[in-house]
This record gives sequence, structure tokens and C-alpha cells, in this order.
Amino acid sequence: MTQDSPAGGTNGKYVGRPIARIDGPAKTSGQARFAAEYSYPDLAYAALVYSTIARGRILSMETAAAKAVDGVVAVLTHENAPPMKPAGKLSPFDVSSIAISTSVNYLATDEVHWNGQPIAVVVAETHEAAQYAASLVTATYQHWHAKVDFASEVPNAIPDKGIPFMTGKADKGDAMAALATSPFTVDLEFSTPQYNHNALEPHATTAVWDGDKLTVHEGTQSLTGVQGQLAKRFGIPKDNVRVLSPFVGGGFGGKARPWAGTLLAVLAARATGRPVRLTLTREGVYHTVGGRTASTQRVALGAGTDGQLASIVHTSVSRTGYVGGMPERITEVSHETYAAPNIYLQQSSMKLDLVSNTFMRAPGEAIGSFGLESAIDELAWDMGMDPIQLRMANEPDRGPVSGKVFAHRHLREAYAVGAERFGWDQRELRAGAMRDGRWLVGMGVATAHHTAMQLTSSVTVRLNADGTVVVRCAMQEMGMGAPTVQTQIVADELGVPLEAVRVEYGDTDLPWGAPAFGSVQTASVTAAVLAACTKLKQSVLTLARKQPASPFKGRKLPELDTRDAGLFFGTRGQSYVEILNAAGRNHVEVAYKPNMPAFLARTVRDVGWRPKAATGAQFCEVRVDADTGEVRVSRWLGVFDVGTVINARTAESQLRGGIIMGIGMALTERTLIDHRSGRIINPSLSEYHIPVHADVPHIDVQYLNKPEPNSPLGLLGLGEIGITGVPAAIANAVRHATGKRVLDLPITLDKVL
Ligand code: MOS
Repeated sequence: MTQDSPAGGTNGKYVGRPIARIDGPAKTSGQARFAAEYSYPDLAYAALVYSTIARGRILSMETAAAKAVDGVVAVLTHENAPPMKPAGKLSPFDVSSIAISTSVNYLATDEVHWNGQPIAVVVAETHEAAQYAASLVTATYQHWHAKVDFASEVPNAIPDKGIPFMTGKADKGDAMAALATSPFTVDLEFSTPQYNHNALEPHATTAVWDGDKLTVHEGTQSLTGVQGQLAKRFGIPKDNVRVLSPFVGGGFGGKARPWAGTLLAVLAARATGRPVRLTLTREGVYHTVGGRTASTQRVALGAGTDGQLASIVHTSVSRTGYVGGMPERITEVSHETYAAPNIYLQQSSMKLDLVSNTFMRAPGEAIGSFGLESAIDELAWDMGMDPIQLRMANEPDRGPVSGKVFAHRHLREAYAVGAERFGWDQRELRAGAMRDGRWLVGMGVATAHHTAMQLTSSVTVRLNADGTVVVRCAMQEMGMGAPTVQTQIVADELGVPLEAVRVEYGDTDLPWGAPAFGSVQTASVTAAVLAACTKLKQSVLTLARKQPASPFKGRKLPELDTRDAGLFFGTRGQSYVEILNAAGRNHVEVAYKPNMPAFLARTVRDVGWRPKAATGAQFCEVRVDADTGEVRVSRWLGVFDVGTVINARTAESQLRGGIIMGIGMALTERTLIDHRSGRIINPSLSEYHIPVHADVPHIDVQYLNKPEPNSPLGLLGLGEIGITGVPAAIANAVRHATGKRVLDLPITLDKVL
């Protein structure tokens, strides 16, 4: 934090204000171009052919019919495609290795690892010809036994060491013994299905080779991840790969890594010597992009008659693919949410012959909070206690497992503010007691929690002699307002008008930027931007002091104000334009370039003791049709402690989006997998039901707006916390409305009746 931005930056002219997205007009006027909208001379179009079995070997492929289609340029299979290099290994110290989506070397093997794995690419003069020809490619297979049913396979305990970012285990005191002797106990088994990604923009790639230089247009959450993976897979230096991603139509974790479509578009372009565009169909996204793991959880809680928890047992099972994916930190929430002398947390996982699972908004915590927050609610029913009171009675004053004192935690206040605003005191204490005509009305709460990580970034800031400022950083924008908030921050730091600042992003030719996943981007870029702005002001001051009549003689930066587009000391000062003109300079530019390996090492270490977290209180009201069991969410309030809010408009919209995704998770979404073939049965928006406007009530979002003491400007990431606690709040409200505890998501009407 710099001298001239006191109180966590919240007193700035722009920081804290609900500024409209600077990229909004380009999007709403249709000028924004997405990855599939770049045209090149001689552009060809690719389409994928997918395996129809889960596990086995391709015996033969029939491609003649496809080749005969008018306009077909090439049909690439494992028999004729140029090879790609292997994916390599995951390392927590190499951000680009996090970009490995699966270990499959597409079109370099006859082996099939999941139903939907791409086995051929058709390249044609038009998208339609490519799609049609792809539909004519057939294969015969040798079938091998496939494990595709999460419910029937046996998991293994996850080792506590050796898997990056996996820190879910704990064994404090004797949780089993304490459970056995507690006067009040609940012991519940939860299950959640696989969920799949449905970003508005399906994955698309436009790939162009120029000799051994590659340009890729790709909607991504990790420019450098895509760049690093492509360099590795195609055996060229990183600097030969340029990834451009100025607009991304939603990510949510599904665009954190390059999947098969990206790799195969690049491969097809290399094989045909033509620029190639590959746009996945919605079904193609389900086939090739991972989703959220299915899960089971056991949550057992033991409490005394005073409501104090004596024991927390939380165990979980998730799945990966044999070809990749990461077990999820499902029990993570139980490290941080409730105080108890005895805590046992253990995670297990299994491998299946399905596409790798992947990040999906609050991986681990979205699922884990459903189990934990449902169980605490059920315990409150058993004890005849108000569920908020029960939570507050067990609010920890330090990490329940780590024992570390929280630097920042305001969950009590979130509940107090929320209860008042939501009218929690209107809640009847009995289940099924609130009725409005045919609707049974219920109210539920749950705690939201998301561990806050922070990386760093490289950034340059350039001040021009005309007073404009250009910030350059290869960060990503997928609709959440990332460059808008950086524009606000820079305008405040330098004391210039918002309109004077331009932020360049979405291009690997820019200085390295943190990826936009794990809710890390804004804090990571802000830290770098603040450092660079301080450096810039110092350079400008040094320049100014060299002038004979400088008002800054003997003055140091901390004594100065930055305002009115210049540096000031009391009423005396000079504008940047004056300073640069007097010095005969047309610009001053500084670069901030942190030591990345050291930073990554620190971050990996920090995750082990969870130095920071965002928390919140989710309040909801549901209406359940007494005759049909239909559940409607009728009111929502989320009160969040996400540190300083830089932009209320973009922050609210992200938190709302998370809550809406949670409503889908709770009530309508699930990926159905045919246990005979491993085929996804519902790979489309008509059969996989995400919430539409009619399913979403007005969502009231509130913040405490208290700066986090160890974060840049006091901000915490807020991209993911919105979804956490949502399914539990809904299940708890359904329990209140109907008396039924649903342990199995989604809460469909058959489970309520
Ligand atoms: Mo997030 S699931 O890390 O995009």
C-alpha cells in the first residue's frame, strides 16, 4: 500500500465506485471479436470425430466417405497425423504445467480412454462441410473393460503429501471417541453428481502457423498456460507462440486449460499448412472438456447440550480420470469453519475411464460446503436451536486445525447484517409451518467460504507527455471486469482521470500476468500494479527534481499527493505534463518484474496454512409446491466479507453469477453418464438444465467492505465464493419448508415428495 492511498484504497476517487465495464460497449455493440471470429485468407475449418466407446483400441477407421465430401481438405487420424509431444508432468512451481488437461496424445495413439475422446479431425473449406464429413467417419474397436460408474468403484485415500494444493487431511484429538460420547450427533452421507461446463461461448480456437511461429486466438483463463502447453506439445520455444484472448465468453474453470480442441486445431493447421478454425459444438464441449467431479461425503458432528461442537468428522470421495484431473479439496471448508477440539478430515479419490475432471467454480469448497453446512443445519434441528445461533456458538477465533490466528474474519458481522436485512426473525421455528397458498415456504442459511490465494504478475506502466497512461499486463478478461478495476486503481494511484488510463491485456506479447483462476487474478495483478505505480511516481519525481526551479527540491515521494494529474506538496506542485515537457521527455515507463519462482514457492507453502479467506452468509427463501414438490427459490441475500470492494458493479455481478450457478447445482444440473458405455446422456442445454431468468429471483448482494490487512488494497478474490454455501442454504430452506432433508443433489421433486 502506498502513502497516498490510505485505508486500503477505499478513499480513492474511483476505487470503490460502481464503474461500468470499459469493454462493455465493444461487447454490446457487437464490435468485440471472440476466438472464432478472426478471419484469415485461406482459412479452413475443422471438426472433431469422437470415440463411441469408453476404453479400448481402434482396429480400423473408415474415412473414404468423409474424404469424398465436397470441400474436404484432409481427414487426420492416428494413421496419418503428424505427432505431438507428450504433455509432461504437473509441477506446482510451473504455472504452465497446470495447463495439462489430459495426458492423451491425440491422434498419436490408437488407444481410447473415454467415450468422446477425439479420434479424428476433418478439415474442410467450410464449417458445415467439416461437420458433415466428420459425421461420416466411423471406427471399429477392440473393447476393453471400462470403469465409468462413480457409485460402484472403490476409492483410495489421497496421500497428504505430493499432490499440489491438496491439503485436506487433518487428525486432531480423537474425533471418533468424541462423537461416540456426544449428547447430540448427526451422521450424514451426501452425494453430488458430475457437473459440466456451459460457458456462453463454447470453446473455439483459430490457429495460424507462420514457419515455426504460431498465433492462436483462444478464449482462455490462462494465456501463459495455453502458450506453455502449445510450445511443449509442438516442440517450439515459448516465445514462438502468441496467444490472443481479448474477449472470453465465460470460463468458470472450464477454460483454465487448453483441451483437445485447442491442440487439434493447432495440429490441423500444421498438417494442412492453412489457418484453421475449430469451434466446438455444445456436445463437443461435453465430450472434450472436464467438469466437476461427482462426490460422496460423510459429515458427522457431535455437540454438547450447550451447542458447542465436540467433534467434526468430514470424509469425502471424488474422482479423476485415468488420463488426468485433480482430486478436489472437498474437506477444505472443515479446516476453517467451526471450532472443535476433535477434528478428523480425510479425502479419497478414484480413477475412472472418463475425461479428466477439472476446475469448476470453487472446486472442492462448492461441494464440501454442501455437506458441512447441511449437517450443521440438521444438528440445529436436532437440538432445537436456531441454525445461526449454533454457527455463532462455534465461530472459531483461530484456524480450528492450524491453530493460526485469523488476520481477518468478520463472519459474525455478515450473519448479523444478513439476519437483520433478510428478516430472519420472521422464520417460524417449526418445519412446514410457513405456507402461502399451495406453496410451503422455507428459509435457510449457510456459510460461504473460499481460501484466498495470491500470485504476482509482471506489469509495465507508461506515462506519456500528453498525460495518458498505458498499463500492460497479460491478464485475462472473461466478463468479470478485470481491466476495469485495474483502470480504477491506476487512475487513483497516479491521480489521473479514468479516461486517461488504458489497460492492455489478453495477449502473451504483454508482460506475464497471473492466470484468471482460483480467484487469484485481481489481487495478483493489483500487487504488481501498485508496485509499478510507486516506481513510476518515483521516476517522475526524480526527473522533476532535476529541474532548476523544481518545487520538489528535497521532497520525498511519501510527502507528496498524487492528484489533478500531477504531484503536489500542499498547494504547490506540477502536473505530469509539465514535468515531462520540462524534462524534454515524451514518456516515462517503468517495469515491475517479480521473481516468479520465489513467489510460486511462497504461494504453494502458504496454501498449507490458509493465510487468507473470503467468507459470507447466504440467506435464501424457497417455495415448495405442496402437491408436486417443485422447488422455487423466491428470495436471496448474500452478505460477503471479500475485503475491499474495488468496483461494486462488477463485484456484485460476479457474486450473483456464483449464486445463480449454485442454484443450478442445487436444483437442476447434473451430468448423466450411461454406465454401460461411459457416454454422457445429456450433453446439451436442452437436457442439462442450467437456471434461466425465470428460475432466479432478485439477488441481494451486500459487502462488509473491510480491507484485508495482508492483501493489496485490502482486496480478496471473489470470483468463486458466490457459489459456496448455496446448495446447502437451499437444502436447509427445503428442510424448513417440508421437514425433508435432501442429501443428494440435485434436489429434484421426487426427493422432496
Ligand atoms: Mo476457477 S474453478 O479456478 O475458474
